Parts: sequence; C-alpha cells; structure tokens
Amino acid sequence: MFDDIKQQLSDLIDAFCLSRGLPTGKVEFRNIPFSGEWGIAAPLFPLAAADPDKSLPVAKKAQALAEALQSQASGLPGFSRVEAVRGYLNLYFEPHSYVGRVVGTVLEQGVRFGSQPQLGKPVMVEYSNPNTHKPLHVGHLRNVILGGSVCNILEASGKRVIRANYIGDIGLHVIKWMCNYEAYHAGEQPSADIMRWMADLYAESDRRFSDDPDFEAQVRAYFGKWDSGDEHVHALWEQTRHWSMQGFQQVYDLLGEHFDRIYFESDVEESGKVMVEKLLKLGIAEDGRPENPVIIDLDKLLGTKEEYRVVVILRSDGTSLYATKELPLAIMKFEEYDLEQSIYVIDVRQSLHMKQMSKVLEVMGYPWAARMHHLAYEIVNLPGNVTMSSRDGTVVLLDDLIREATQRAFEVVQEKNPSLDADSMRDIARKVALGAIKYPMISRENTKIVTFDWDTALDFNGQSAPYIQYAVVRANSILRRLSEPAPRKADFTHDLLPAELNLIEKISQLPDVVQKAAAEFKPSLVATYAFELAQSFNDFYTQCPVLSAVGSARAARLVLVQAAKISLENALSLLGIQSPQVM
Ligand code: ARG
Repeated sequence: MFDDIKQQLSDLIDAFCLSRGLPTGKVEFRNIPFSGEWGIAAPLFPLAAADPDKSLPVAKKAQALAEALQSQASGLPGFSRVEAVRGYLNLYFEPHSYVGRVVGTVLEQGVRFGSQPQLGKPVMVEYSNPNTHKPLHVGHLRNVILGGSVCNILEASGKRVIRANYIGDIGLHVIKWMCNYEAYHAGEQPSADIMRWMADLYAESDRRFSDDPDFEAQVRAYFGKWDSGDEHVHALWEQTRHWSMQGFQQVYDLLGEHFDRIYFESDVEESGKVMVEKLLKLGIAEDGRPENPVIIDLDKLLGTKEEYRVVVILRSDGTSLYATKELPLAIMKFEEYDLEQSIYVIDVRQSLHMKQMSKVLEVMGYPWAARMHHLAYEIVNLPGNVTMSSRDGTVVLLDDLIREATQRAFEVVQEKNPSLDADSMRDIARKVALGAIKYPMISRENTKIVTFDWDTALDFNGQSAPYIQYAVVRANSILRRLSEPAPRKADFTHDLLPAELNLIEKISQLPDVVQKAAAEFKPSLVATYAFELAQSFNDFYTQCPVLSAVGSARAARLVLVQAAKISLENALSLLGIQSPQVM
C-alpha cells in the first residue's frame, strides 16, 4: 500500500551505497508489528557483511550503517521518527497521514481493495467433480465451497484462474441407472427437482442391483451393449447425462458457482487406453494380460521403498480404470492452456493416487508434472450420524440442506427484525443461510475434519458468517442514518482511540492476507481474518461514537465505517458469501 514511500527509501539507500562503494540490493524492509503505531524496519547486517572494509565486526558495522542512514532518512516526508537500533533502521509512519492513506486507498479501490490485477499464465483449479446419475449431496459440499473460494482468492491475488469440473459420466453407476430406467421407468421425464428425481432412481437401481441377481445379470448385459456402441443406449446416455448436468447446474446456481471448462471422464477413456500402449512401449508399464492387469511398479522403477507402490492402469480384461483416465486428462489440461499450475481439489484419501499420477507423468518426461498440485481436504461430519451416501434414502441432498438453512435463517431474521417485508426477509435469509453453510466449510484448515452443526453455523455471537454479516449491517445502518451524503475523504487529526487504531490496522492487512492465503491455498486464513475484522469493527462500534462525534472526528469515523464495510464485504466475497445490507 505504501509502494511510493518504500520506493523513495530504496532510492535513498541505493544512493547511499553507491556513494560509499557498497553493493546495492542488500537492504530489505519488513513491517514492524503494529503496537499502536506503524513502521517499517530494515536489518543492515547483509549490507554490513558485504562491505569489503572489514575493520569492524558485522554487528558493529551494521549499527554504524544504520546511524549513517538515520541522519539521511530523517527528513523524509510521511515519517514521524527514524531510529537506528542494534543494526536496524526503524522508520515510524506519521500516524495521521498513515491512517488517512490506508482509509483513502480502501475507499478509492472499493470492491478492488485487497485484489491485484490478473497477470501471467493461468492456473487451473479442478473442483466439484461429481458423478452423473448420482446426486450432489452433503458429502460434496466442502469440495465445491473450498474450490470456489480458492479460485476467488487466487484471482484476487493476481492469477488468471480457469475453473474446471471433471465429471464422472461413465461406469457401472451409470449403466445401473439406465438399465433400471429402461426396465421400470421407460419414457419418464425428470420432475422439476431434477436432482431429487435422479437420486431416487439411483437409489432404486442400486438396491435392485444388490438384492436381485436377475437385475444384476441384466445390468451386465446392458454394459455389453454399451461397450459395443449400441446406438440406442448411447442416445439414452446423452439424454440422461444432460438431465444430470441440469440438476448440477441448479445447485451451482444456488451456491453461486460457475465453471469455465467441463471435462467428462468419457472424453479421456479412449486416449487413456492409447496411453497404456505408449507406457508399455516405453517400458514403464508391465503387461500382465490376459491373467493379470497392466501395472506400473513405481517403486521398482524409482528404486524407492513402499513410497509410490504399484499403479494398476488397465484391467486384465482391457477395460479402463480411474488411473487410466487421469493421465490423458492431465496432458489435455496442460496442452490446452499452458498452465502455470494445475490444482486438484480432491479428498485427502486420494493422496497416494495423485502422488502416483504426477510421478508417472514425470517419468514419462512431462516437465510440467511438478506443477500439478493436489489440494487435499478432509471430510465433514454431521452430528447425529446423518448418512452421506447416495445408496440409501437417507442421503442429505445439497438443496435440502440449503432449504433447511434458509428456513432456520428466516426464523432468526423474522425474530430480529419483524418489520421487514416478506421479500426482503427471504432475500436476507438466503444470504445468511448460504453464509452459514459455507463458512464452516472453509474456516477450518483444509486437512482437518469439519463438524457441521446448525447452532454454531447460525450463531450470531460466535465465529460464523452471520456474525460477520451482522457487522456489515451495523456499518450500513450508521451510514443509512445520515441525512447528508457520507464524506468520501477526511483528515484524521482527532485523537485516535485504540479501537480505531486496531480497526485501521486490521483493514490494512487484507491485501497481505489475500496473498498469503493464495500462496498456501488456505481460504481459512481469509475466514479467520474476516471474523477478526468483524470483531475489531464491533469494538469500534461500541467504543467510538460516530454520528454524535464532534469536530473532525465525525467525518473521519464516517470514512472509517465505509472502509470497514468495504473490507468486510470484500473478505466475505472471497469466501463466496454475500452481505445483506439490513437484517
Ligand atoms: N469423480 C471422482 C469421484 O467422485 C473424483 C474425480 C477427482 N478428480 C480427478 N482428477 N481424479 O471420486
């Protein structure tokens, strides 16, 4: 945020070094941790160590350099004092102008505050990845929320992002569904709730498959028809896959997710088999057919021990497997987009699989194999042991969960603000409900298990989305009570209270938090930040009168309220959470 000031300083230091025959580029600044005032510090040890004159020990030399620089830097505008302490040059910002700058930047940048322009090669994030003919259920929730948020954060950090979705559209589950449909539901059309309809038929086909050996035999025969390219079966597959995709789209619309590139498993099945032949020719794979499958013994190839193990890449009967399709998929992604990175948001249980896949591609000589990254996450527990499988009828579909959340949020909103009209109440309830569902999915570290329960998710006093959303509403309610337009600029010349200083400090952290969260693929950092920002705002709200403040404090605080509101909204939006304006 203070690039120009930092540039001035660097220029001054470069000139200093040149005048003394010292190398440039040895001095770097970092922020001094906030303690009621803001500053930056530069250690001068690297410069001292690079000095050809060795008449002093490095620590002493560093201090001497700091002192020499101190006298030169003391005149720089924007700083209240400059110190030379134990080999460090410490520069403290003049607080009023610092605060004015932070807050001014936020108001000027608005929705862009916290974000960088997008440059460079794209990053692909593959997430959601459902299987057609099955429902999107609670078990899929964390993946889609986490993936979406990682994309938002990467984009804000200055990356171009391609949101990809790899759909499992072939395999036994699809054949079962179609066979059951043909035998018992021929000609039926999906109901308005496509997902529920597909899910019910899936559960039915699965039950029949387990209970009825005749049906199982029928399914096997049906699979044969599929394999031989039967036209009718393939037409039905296209049609039913389309229904499934429509059902997914309904849920993505509810969640506010969209994808730039859809890959189907069926797109990479044939190329996967071609790849197996290539791997055999290269001597990487071993052919065990007809008795045994085609495998790659990675440990044997690499001389490692029980690290990469054995990958099966083709069944003995020549049919493809999960791994068969993974290889051409990875190649397709890099060939189509020249990616800086290819990220896979997949359950932590697939860690070995992903590790094996990038290793195989590395052994094949693809230089980008090292740029594949498995973003692993843990499961979500529901209290009361609610089942998450699509086999039995007890599965909680995503739209059921959203509906229940909306109903619960509606009751809370109605109680808080009974005078709202029904439409606004519904709109607010939707935003609160989605926030309540999404926040717990991202606020835990990716690889820790989430336990989802309604009380925590909707706790207006706890670490939850509604708590943060409520801070936005409070900020907005101050601004709405103004009879004149809110000032866009102010001089921060009044005595700043600790709650104000803390709030300003929190606000100023957003750009750095975004960078760190992007570098580590950790939306949880943004989630925690948003909560702490809301806490700081609430402290400010209770301790610093705004509308009744006098003199320059009133305008300054009104500007600060706007900056806090912008920062809260921007942080929530990175988490895929919308901010209602009233509650
Ligand atoms: N559709 C798969 C499943 O439901 C997940 C696919 C994950 N992505 C991948 N590139 N392997 O298990």
